[in-house]
Amino acid sequence: MDNNILNEINDLKKKRNAVILSHFYQRPEIQGIADFIGDSLELSRKAADTKADVVVFCGVHFMAETASILSPDKIVLLPNIGAGCPMAEMADYEGLKKLKEEHPEACIVSYVNTTADVKTLSDICCTSANAVKVVNTIPRDREIIFVPDKNLGRYVEKMTGRKLILWQGYCNTHNKLTVEEVLLTKERYPNAKVIAHPECREEVLDIADGVFSTSGMIKYVGESEAKEFIICTEDGILHQLQRKYLDKKFILPSNKLICPNMKKTKIEDVLYSLSNMKPEVRVSDDVREKAIIPIKRMLEIK
Ligand code: 13P
Ligand code: SF4
Repeated sequence: MDNNILNEINDLKKKRNAVILSHFYQRPEIQGIADFIGDSLELSRKAADTKADVVVFCGVHFMAETASILSPDKIVLLPNIGAGCPMAEMADYEGLKKLKEEHPEACIVSYVNTTADVKTLSDICCTSANAVKVVNTIPRDREIIFVPDKNLGRYVEKMTGRKLILWQGYCNTHNKLTVEEVLLTKERYPNAKVIAHPECREEVLDIADGVFSTSGMIKYVGESEAKEFIICTEDGILHQLQRKYLDKKFILPSNKLICPNMKKTKIEDVLYSLSNMKPEVRVSDDVREKAIIPIKRMLEIK
C-alpha cells in the first residue's frame, strides 16, 4: 500500500478528530487502516459511543445513516456515496405502510439493513447478531412483520418457533449461494465445519454447523477445535479470519460471494473524504427523531 496515502490519512484523522470504522466485508486495505472493524451491531454501538467528531464509515449507506441517526452532532462520512445495500432498497416506505395498515396490531421488526424512512415505521430494529433475541422480547401473542430479509426472517421463525409476516427481500450476494455448491465443497473438505450467515438461503442454513453474524463467525472459529471451515458469507471476512487464525484453513464455497457495494470503497476515497469532509450522510430531523426509536430499543437489549 502507498505509504504517502497512509501518512496523509493518519495526519487528517488527527486534525479532524476522526475515527475510521470498517465492516468485515471491506477490502483488506480498508480494514487495515480502520480503528475498529466489526459487524453491523458492533459498528452501530461504536458509532453511538465514540468521542470523535467525525466518523468515516467504511461500509454501506444504511450503516452510515444509522451512525448519523445515533450521533447527529457528529459528521458521518461515507467515502464512496455509491455504496448502497440492494436489500435495504427492497423495502419501501409506502409498501410497508400499506402492510402495517393491513396488520394494525403487528409489531414491525426491521433489520438494520433498511432505509431511515422504513425505520420510522418500525417498532424495533435488529441485526443478524441479535434478531432471535429481539423477536423473543415481543409478547408471543403479538403479530410480527419482519422486514426486509426473508432468509433471516425464516431463520428467526425456526429459532423462535413463531410465525412471522415476512417481507420478500433478500441479499443479492448471500442468496446466490446454492446448497449444491456447499455440498460439493464439503465433499472436498469432509472435515470442515460449515458456518453460514443467516442471509443465506434456508437450504444452506439447514446444512450448516453454525449460523452467525460476521463477528459471531470469528468467535466460533476461535473457540472451535476444527482446522478447516467452509465460510458461507462475503469474502471480505477471510482477511480477518486468516490474520487471526494462522493455523486454520478457510474455504469459500463459491466465487460469487462478493458484495459489489462493500467493495466500492477504496483507500483513495477515504483520503478524499477526510480531505474534503464529504460525502456526508445525514437525515432530516423529523426522520431522525422517529428512526432513532427502534434503533435505541435494539441497542438497549444486551
Ligand atoms: P453483519 O451484521 O453480520 O455484519 O452483516 C451485515 C450485512 O450486511 C450482511 O450482509
Ligand atoms: Fe447488503 Fe448483502 Fe451487501 Fe450486506 S452483503 S451490504 S446485505 S447486499
